[in-house]
Amino acid sequence: MSISYLNISGVRNLMAPEFNPSARINIISGKNGSGKTSILEAIHFLSTTRSFRTHEIRHLLTQGQEAALVFSRVLDSHSKHPLPLGVERRLSGDVRVRYDGRSLDSAELASLLPVQVLYSGTFELLDGSPAVRRQFLDWGGFHADVQFINLWRGFRRALKQRNSLLKYGKVDRLQMQVWDREFIAYGEQLTEHRRAYLDRLIPEFNRILSILLDDISIELKFFTGWDSKRTLEAVLSDQVDREIQQGFTLAGPQRADLRFRCDGINAADRLSRGQKKLVVSALRLAQGQVYRQHSDRACIYLVDDLPSELDEPHAQLFCNFLEQSDDQCFITCVDPDSLIKFWSPDTDLALFHLDAGSLSCR
Ligand SMILES: Nc1ncnc2c1ncn2[C@@H]1O[C@H](COP(=O)(O)OP(=O)(O)O)[C@@H](O)[C@H]1O
Ligand SMILES: [Mg+2]
Repeated sequence: MSISYLNISGVRNLMAPEFNPSARINIISGKNGSGKTSILEAIHFLSTTRSFRTHEIRHLLTQGQEAALVFSRVLDSHSKHPLPLGVERRLSGDVRVRYDGRSLDSAELASLLPVQVLYSGTFELLDGSPAVRRQFLDWGGFHADVQFINLWRGFRRALKQRNSLLKYGKVDRLQMQVWDREFIAYGEQLTEHRRAYLDRLIPEFNRILSILLDDISIELKFFTGWDSKRTLEAVLSDQVDREIQQGFTLAGPQRADLRFRCDGINAADRLSRGQKKLVVSALRLAQGQVYRQHSDRACIYLVDDLPSELDEPHAQLFCNFLEQSDDQCFITCVDPDSLIKFWSPDTDLALFHLDAGSLSCR
């Protein structure tokens, strides 16, 4: 899937830019505060109805505006003509997604136009909370298998019910058994899906990391959320008294995590900023490549400030990888000359410049 036309209104400082991106490499340059990240945010909003920078929609909307609207035409590799896709979100909370004349829900939208974002917050994959890594992992599960979302919802429901029984202290053992069965059944399946996804992701991650950063190797380990030498059932029945004391479920897939180690040490404590950037980039790029292998469809990559933290040879390797990936990329930078030199002359490259929210073609 690629975007062939974009029209953004009501997003941050952007002055309603309207443009035709290249199906391959788009470079958007501009000074600090000109609106570069906001353009990527608008594309992410088109893909998910949300921002990657804020959970609060009012921050994404241009101050004083009632709604953000991103209208586009998107081209599927299987269709001949681009089709209209529009996402609108109002301050009141209303969300409207229209694709080719019909409404879509957020799950349909997410599988229509998947994006991968690389920005300063992506570092959280290494040094943020486990929730960030579970979200990363479950993005893969969601896109790999249509059943995943049902498993995930079933598991969340069982966890919620179990926690509310534990919270109010008076645990009805019979009722608890019912939710335990659901919790275990969904939890084990969810974990198998996560494991199967990682079995595909990890080799791809190692391959891309060896291209971007050949002198480092990272060991990626999956923690299921409980002592995986034992069954989830055994763990639950052992700790039920402690759970009643504490008032919530202590172990299970809601505690899953990924652990990154470099030379036997936690990667977040070991690596430089530039190295971390390349490791999290390799993870996101691998996720996009696995998605492509599995679905025969492409992700769109949004790379904010590609040159920052990277020396020239590594920025060059990063660009080479994007160039060879065949996917649509939106890349921002302050100085366009720092990026333009990295592409081969036959690359389908479009250059845009932002000045105080106004976009022009270069
Ligand atoms: N809700 C908003 N309404 C209007 N302007 C905003 C809003 N939020 C941020 N801005 C302004 O938008 C500009 C663009 O920010 P940003 O996209 O982060 O710039 P860049 O990535 O180019 O440095 C900033 O100058 C910021 O002050
Ligand atoms: Mg920015």
